[in-house]
Amino acid sequence: MGELPGGYVNAVVRIGETVRRPVPEHAEFVHALLLYLEDRGWPGAPRFLGIDETDRQILSYLPGHVAWLAPDRVDPPGVWSEQSLARVAELVRELHDLTAASALAGSREVVCHNDLASRNTVYRDSGDGSYLPVAFIDWDLAGPGSRIHDVAYLCWQFVIGDPDRPDPITAGKQLRLICDAYGLSERTDLLPAIMACQDRNWRQIEASANAGDEVSQRLRDLGAVRTGQATYQWTATHQHEIERVLG
Ligand SMILES: Nc1ncnc2c1ncn2[C@@H]1O[C@H](COP(=O)(O)OP(=O)(O)O)[C@@H](O)[C@H]1O
Ligand SMILES: [Mg+2]
Repeated sequence: MGELPGGYVNAVVRIGETVRRPVPEHAEFVHALLLYLEDRGWPGAPRFLGIDETDRQILSYLPGHVAWLAPDRVDPPGVWSEQSLARVAELVRELHDLTAASALAGSREVVCHNDLASRNTVYRDSGDGSYLPVAFIDWDLAGPGSRIHDVAYLCWQFVIGDPDRPDPITAGKQLRLICDAYGLSERTDLLPAIMACQDRNWRQIEASANAGDEVSQRLRDLGAVRTGQATYQWTATHQHEIERVLG
């Protein structure tokens, strides 16, 4: 049994080929979703295997590299390549197409993962030493939503969320790559949707921290509110420049 690092919220442990983590708030939905994706044969999510004797969620362990960001952590080659970014977008498209018009999506377009980030992505050696994304983990926040929300969220998290973000032109090219790989043709709403994600996120952390939530207080202590505001500001400043490249 081993504790798995890289989480931001939950204590996650590995036991054999399984992972045990606390049951999420919307457990019924999340478990139904994971079973639905298994039923469709989609390999992009862990399998839901039940609840253990201490009331933890049992999931299949997905071997590979999870690219959580930490100062001392080095990702294997390929993780941040253009091919990898495009594959992330294709995986999201697969998830959306599989859930479009399903009962799980309800009256909304699709089911969104709602926390698409490298820290929730499993990468695997594709055979030539280069790592590509194969699955997403951490489905706690999944729910019915709009396609553009997940696309905007991943653009933020994979391209412009890090203080080491590329210059606006390069960022625009990477966002274009994501849109092309996903197949998002209507792009005028993308930057506003990215900024809405960024703005909502830091405000939520601040509000929850002020209300006494320990995870949010920890994130605030790590500088998440400050970084979130700076990222939003950067996006707002360069919005039109990025949009020109986006096409
Ligand atoms: N199904 C899984 N397969 C492999 N590793 C996993 C799996 N689920 C979680 N992990 C590992 O545990 C860490 C934390 O899990 P995660 O579900 O993201 O928790 P948190 O909600 O705290 O972010 C991940 O960074 C990853 O290394
Ligand atoms: Mg996580």
